[in-house]
Amino acid sequence: MGKTVRKLLLVFIPAALCAQSSFDQGRALFRSNCAFCHGMTATGGRGPNLVSAPLSHGDTDVSIKRVIRIGVPGTTMPAFSEFTDEEVGQVIQYLQSLSKSSLRNENVPGNPQHGQQIYGEKDCSGCHRIGGQGSIFGPELTRIGGARSIEYLRDSIIKPSADVPEGYEGVTVVMKNGKRIRGLRINEDTFSIQLRDPSQQIRMFQKDELIGVTHETESMMPAYDRLSATDLQDLVAYLATLRGAVDSSAAVKKAGGIK
Ligand code: HEC
Ligand code: HEC
Repeated sequence: MGKTVRKLLLVFIPAALCAQSSFDQGRALFRSNCAFCHGMTATGGRGPNLVSAPLSHGDTDVSIKRVIRIGVPGTTMPAFSEFTDEEVGQVIQYLQSLSKSSLRNENVPGNPQHGQQIYGEKDCSGCHRIGGQGSIFGPELTRIGGARSIEYLRDSIIKPSADVPEGYEGVTVVMKNGKRIRGLRINEDTFSIQLRDPSQQIRMFQKDELIGVTHETESMMPAYDRLSATDLQDLVAYLATLRGAVDSSAAVKKAGGIK
């Protein structure tokens, strides 16, 4: 590298860093704190789309700020209490400017009424609950449409093992008589393990009374990968309409203080 070029770089790089706009700072904060759930471009993933879908908690700066500061009770959206006001402002500015180009009116393709019918035919309620109806073996779906992106919902149906939410990991225990019991792991320590079997029963085992404990990497939900493209689309469209109220009495998670 020529001497002049190196000298020029020495002058330009710090200047470029100082000139970093508030948009860039907002993007950097977003990528390191939020992208894990909301996706690199904020169009959703484990968490909802924040730029091109309607926001269930409101889309004004004030309502977005409230969600970032205090989190959403009973969900994985944590409270970012350690951000400065300036940082929160930069993240909001970043999100608002992304949404200007796409508007928050994502149109979910498909027929939700037909999707609801498929939900019934496939007996999804044998493992899921919506508004008090159904089983609590799998996660409650009452507000799944406000909590996950469309792509995430589609994947949840056709390849459920792609992302298994915390608390829904499967486990198989083998008893001394050779009997195997499969369920969702609720609790485990050195000496004991607790699981919920598909009939909803909570079972507790002492490990010294077991031959083996296997932690599953596969989801306990069967993959519905044989649905026709239309049925899948309609089912996703139905799930996307599920935006029941947040349980405000539930606990709020705290952000891990990563920056
Ligand atoms: C561990 C996952 C996770 C992380 C990290 C996370 N979020 Fe969320 N966020 C969620 C989930 C899940 C929801 C949906 C909660 C619900 O059901 O209303 C949500 C909801 C939101 C909402 C409200 C969306 C709406 O529809 O009104 C905003 C705004 C938001 N998050 C912004 C952020 C920002 C900004 C960050 C980073 C500073 C962040 N989130 C980090 C999971 C996360
Ligand atoms: C045998 C029980 C069982 C059946 C039947 C079942 N699921 Fe699931 N489902 C689960 C479990 C357990 C999870 C959590 C683990 C995972 O995400 O794979 C889950 C996860 C999900 C999720 C993601 C939830 C979240 O919070 O991320 C969606 C969406 C879903 N199921 C929809 C459906 C639909 C739609 C049907 C019917 C076509 C269905 N499930 C049938 C057990 C089941």
